Amino acid sequence: MSKFYSKLALKAFPYTPGEQPTDKKYIKLNSNENPYPPSPTVSKAIQEEIHKLNLYSDPEATVLVKALADYHHVKEDNVFAGNGSDEVLAFAFAAFFAGKAILCPDITYNFYFTFAKYYESEFIEVPLQDDLSVNPADYNWERFKKLHPRSQFGGIVLPNPNAPSGIYLQLSEIEKIVQANPDGVVLIDEAYIDFGEESAASLIDQYDNLLIVQTFSKSRSLAGLRIGFAIGNAELIKGMKRIKDSYNSFTVDRLAMYGAVAALKDEDYFVEMKNRITATRETVTKKLQKAGFTLTNSKGSFIFMTHKDIPATYLYEQLKKEGVLVRHYKQPRINNYLRVSIGSDEEMNIFCDIIDRLITETKV
Ligand SMILES: Cc1ncc(COP(=O)(O)O)c(C=O)c1O
Repeated sequence: MSKFYSKLALKAFPYTPGEQPTDKKYIKLNSNENPYPPSPTVSKAIQEEIHKLNLYSDPEATVLVKALADYHHVKEDNVFAGNGSDEVLAFAFAAFFAGKAILCPDITYNFYFTFAKYYESEFIEVPLQDDLSVNPADYNWERFKKLHPRSQFGGIVLPNPNAPSGIYLQLSEIEKIVQANPDGVVLIDEAYIDFGEESAASLIDQYDNLLIVQTFSKSRSLAGLRIGFAIGNAELIKGMKRIKDSYNSFTVDRLAMYGAVAALKDEDYFVEMKNRITATRETVTKKLQKAGFTLTNSKGSFIFMTHKDIPATYLYEQLKKEGVLVRHYKQPRINNYLRVSIGSDEEMNIFCDIIDRLITETKV
């Protein structure tokens, strides 16, 4: 590493996103992108703002914050908007977890570990159960306190549904975790919540330690626009603004802000697209189960699959050769699984046909 790097750059543990090769055209089922385009109202809204690009965007992202507050039935001071939910998560780590201990599942979205390294949080892994589900009773700082007597508790980071398992934890269980940890911020990352499950945002008035993070990247087909947001108690939101305004006041650009508002207002399109994806998820799940795969009960826009006789690495390589990219993790416990984003019906038919063929060939 370069001698010019600061301590901050040296200690960083950069996240590795799903590969984006350019050697040929792939069917991309490795980054949980939405296969469908965004609402047509988005491009119209963006067009209308283009001639105003000489002006800075609104540092408070007021129109977007207001639209989100209306949509989620909360007040404007309960909402924070940012440049993708990764940025919102980074600000939350900086505001609540820097230098403190956090509890996090051992198998989850790997970016949390990257943030923890960067902000010098003590990352305490809580193992998932054998079936890869979260046991809510495990998430209680009282249980860890004795083992970490010098640590200051920051909170809990839990995606719901979890990634990459897609397993959803009922709202009543989330509430128990929030109640059991009044001295820490319980951050629920709901990147995939729209694909059929209930958000915990309805609980923020009751708990001052609950922070919900969501994104426009998945259910609203806007991964490229970079919009994420948090919903929580006004004091938590103020804390995140303190961080944002110590870094960059204009994180949400003008085009993204108005594009996101347009997407939020097109409810019919949103419902149609997310229903399409969940329907495809269910069809593909059944097909793969029939073909001998075991799948977690994913409520996300992806499936998580394993086969007891066919190594995941083999399937991953063969699929790649045939032009289909999926995600394989080398992590113990899940290294025989593949995470496959739900693509269009056409893409998923191609994927399933290749899988069927590979299974037949392996049996010969
Ligand atoms: C669980 C989870 N959280 C957050 C993100 C980040 O999404 P974005 O930064 O695009 O909003 C992802 C992206 O894949 C994710 O899987």
